[in-house]
Order: sequence, then structure tokens, then C-alpha cells
Amino acid sequence: MKRVVFDQPGPPAEVLRVQDDVPAPQPARGEVLVRMLASPVNPSDLMYIGGKYGITPTLPATPGFEGVGVVEASGGGFLGWLRKGKRVAVINDRVGNWAEYTLTKARQVVPVPDDLSDEQAATFFVNPATALVMTQSVLALQPGDWLLQSAAGGELGKMIIRLGKLNGFRTLNVVRRREQVEELKKLGADAVIVESDGPLPEQVRAVAPNGVRHAIDPVGGKTGSDVIASLGLGGRCLLYGSLTDDPLTVQPRFLLSNNVRIEGFWLAAWAKRQRVMTMLKLFRKVRAMMRDGVLQSNFAATYPLEEVRKAVEHAATPGKGGKILLKIGTR
Ligand SMILES: NC(=O)c1ccc[n+]([C@@H]2O[C@H](COP(=O)([O-])OP(=O)(O)OC[C@H]3O[C@@H](n4cnc5c(N)ncnc54)[C@H](OP(=O)(O)O)[C@@H]3O)[C@@H](O)[C@H]2O)c1
Repeated sequence: MKRVVFDQPGPPAEVLRVQDDVPAPQPARGEVLVRMLASPVNPSDLMYIGGKYGITPTLPATPGFEGVGVVEASGGGFLGWLRKGKRVAVINDRVGNWAEYTLTKARQVVPVPDDLSDEQAATFFVNPATALVMTQSVLALQPGDWLLQSAAGGELGKMIIRLGKLNGFRTLNVVRRREQVEELKKLGADAVIVESDGPLPEQVRAVAPNGVRHAIDPVGGKTGSDVIASLGLGGRCLLYGSLTDDPLTVQPRFLLSNNVRIEGFWLAAWAKRQRVMTMLKLFRKVRAMMRDGVLQSNFAATYPLEEVRKAVEHAATPGKGGKILLKIGTR
């Protein structure tokens, strides 16, 4: 089979290569072998390849945390038997989905309905689950609450805007490109701020005079610091990414006098703490909201596995306007 590998962490467009003579792996008990159809290039994949992610790769390593495929074989166990032959979303906490065949735990493959395209099914978990869990479980946003979010024009940011429209919380969205303002307003954004238009805390207070109680930031550096400085009394900010590698600057006096909380959020760690029933309910919700369009992704381009270097380069390009997808096989 073919697979993408890297021998050392580094810039993705330089360190990735395609191997085409590797034997397909054999599933152990509780595991399934999946023939992959497609897998997205997510920011987490680029960080993993660059050696900047919360999981350290065992080298040589194959990237790919999620995707869609067909279960070809089970290593034994009831769930694996049940999933055999099904088209499934493939969640892989051991990574390795950028390959024609991958192994994962039988409980980490989720059957997807026939009317969901391979593209949408490939992006079933990472962004949709993060958007839902952060807004509904962790921050538990109520109708009327303001949520401030940076990188709002990305695929996850757009899901949050659609969730706000559906559930009644208001979104105050920060973008770095002015052309995204109208697009996000059409999606249902309550307010959109362009970062370069002036100091962020001032722009936020022009919309929400007391500052906001809830914020999420995947950028870090100056943007993340400004998001934190825009919080009002009792405010809470979830940091869920590090798109810039830059550290945050926070004023301790601001935190203590406003009783502000800053927390990290990582879906993989959250999921490990949940019961099976909670995860099944989450999958059901994602499936329904994907069909309704609320948790769907846009796609900018598709590349074959052989062109993985072009794919990762495109994924790292500012203003790419959608997910980059690796097309690996056909149904
Ligand atoms: N913690 C978790 O469990 C978890 C789970 C899922 C995703 N995430 C994180 O969520 C973030 C968004 O993911 P995604 O799939 O939505 O990515 P995406 O579709 O590639 O969107 C990224 C967005 O961030 C903006 N951006 C990139 N670098 C920036 C910078 N230096 N300053 C300001 N804005 C910047 C981009 O702006 P342009 O459009 O102008 O290029 C784009 O709007 C990533 O950091 C990802 O790692 C975390």
C-alpha cells in the first residue's frame, strides 16, 4: 500500500514523502483495518509533522488524525464485526490516516449515512466536535450571551457562527482579512471586527460596552493577548490552538481585578475523560448537524496522496478559503 511518512519532524512541505511498497497492517483484537477514502489536512496535522503537537510521533510516522474510509477487516470483537463493510468516519488517536490502509480502535470508527459526501464525512470529528463541546459543554453558552472568537473566518469559526445562530448565543468575530466581513455576516455573525482597524479591546467594547464574558482563541501571540484583554468581569477564555507560535502577554492586575479565567481546551484530552454513552450522543448530534449544514466544512482543493507536499503547502497558505483534502481511494 501507499502511505505518507516523515522521518524527522520539520516543515511539512520538506519532510513528507510517499512510500508505495508497504504491507498493509494487520488489526489486533478490538481494532479494525480501514481502507481510506479521504482525509483532511488540519492545522493539527501540520503541527504534528512539525513536532509542535501534544502527541510526539514515533518515527518514521504517518500523519492523519481523521478521515473517511471503509472497514475492510476486524481483528476480533463484536463492534469490529458490526462495523465490517461500513463507510465510517475514522478517528485515529494513534494517527496514521494519510495511507491507503490504516488501523484504529473499533470504537473510534463511526458509521456515516449514505447521503453524507466523502468530503464532509472526512471532517466529521475534529472541528464539529470541538465547536459543539466548547460552546455547549464547557462554556455552556446561553441564549443572548456574547462569545468573542478570533480566527472566526476559518472552518471551525464558521461552525461556531452557525451554532450561535441556531442556539441563540451572539458571536463577536475577529478576522484578519476585510473581505470576510460580509461573508460572516451572511452566515449569521452578530458582529465582525477586522483586527487591523484598531486596538481589539476598544473595538470589542464598542459592541459590548462591559466587555464579553466568554471568548475562544486559537491564535495566541498578540491576537490571543488582545482577546483576553477584551474580557469583562468574570470573563473566561478557552485557548484551543496556537496558530502563531508566539507567547501570550497578560497583565496579572487585569486578571485578578476582573476575576478572569484562562484555560486550555484540547478535544483529544476531553474525549478521553468521557463515557462511551457521552461520545455516542456527541456522534449522533454531529451527524444530525452535519446533515443540516450547521457543522459542514467548505473545501478549497483536493490532492491525491502523491501530491501531499503541494497539499500541505496549500493548507498553510493564508486566505485559502476552505479545507484541503487528500483524496486517497474510491468507494
Ligand atoms: N484544541 C482542539 O482540540 C482543536 C480542535 C480543532 C481545531 N483546533 C484548532 O482550531 C484552529 C482552527 O482550525 P480550522 O480547521 O478552522 O483551521 P482553518 O480552516 O485553516 O482556519 C484557520 C483560520 O485562522 C486564521 N489564521 C491563521 N493564522 C492566523 C494568524 N497568525 N493570525 C490570525 N488569524 C490566523 C485563518 O485566517 P485566513 O482565512 O485569513 O487565512 C483562518 O481563518 C486551529 O488552530 C486548530 O488547531 C483545535
